[in-house]
Amino acid sequence: MNFPRIIQGEKIVLKRADATFKLAEELVTAVDESRKDLLPWLPWALNNKTAEDEFGWLLNWCEKNRKENVGYAYIIRKKDGGKLLGSVDFMKINKEWKSGEIGYWLRSSEVGHGYMQEAVRLLEKEVFARDFNRITILNDTRNTRSVNVAKRAGYHLDGILRQDRTSPTENIFVDTNIWSKLKSEYKG
Ligand SMILES: CC(C)(COP(=O)(O)OP(=O)(O)OC[C@H]1O[C@@H](n2cnc3c(N)ncnc32)[C@H](O)[C@@H]1OP(=O)(O)O)[C@@H](O)C(=O)NCCC(=O)NCCS
Repeated sequence: MNFPRIIQGEKIVLKRADATFKLAEELVTAVDESRKDLLPWLPWALNNKTAEDEFGWLLNWCEKNRKENVGYAYIIRKKDGGKLLGSVDFMKINKEWKSGEIGYWLRSSEVGHGYMQEAVRLLEKEVFARDFNRITILNDTRNTRSVNVAKRAGYHLDGILRQDRTSPTENIFVDTNIWSKLKSEYKG
């Protein structure tokens, strides 16, 4: 599938998430700063607490999935200065159905500048250039910022999975939005 190592945008650049300890240390700093905003939506934020944990993610998730062609993870950096902003991935790839899912997070101090909007658009361009037919985005129905990312990027709300998972932080079942964009809807 050969997703590129680097994807250049206007304000940001997406860099392949390679397993280095330096990157793991940068990631844990960003996650530590942002943990309270990540925790309600992303269960992994409960566990990734040290650079070793992040290195484990880089090695056992990013590199492994890339080698198996089932997921591509990118680190988002500011073009100007290279600050790590967060990550975005195309994952759960189904080669037969030509589909996969985009997931994302930003460090808290960098929310509200349109960086994820740009990251999603950069990544979906690569996805649809590779003959995929469908991209899915999933989010908790209460996650307004993530809902707005999907809406602004022109994704269609296919429906809501009622109480299909538990909240990472509260003892409640939560509802999940399923958004999608099809190749036939992609405007470039
Ligand atoms: C979800 C998340 C990535 C959204 O980040 P975000 O910065 O709001 O997303 P966008 O890149 O779409 O930016 C939109 C915001 O930037 C502003 N903005 C500024 N310049 C912009 C531009 N050129 N283009 C688009 N938006 C711009 C928008 O007005 C909007 O801010 P507002 O909602 O306060 O009006 C972030 O809140 C996050 O990481 N949350 C925690 C983790 C999480 O929930 N992940 C998703 C799990 S499903």
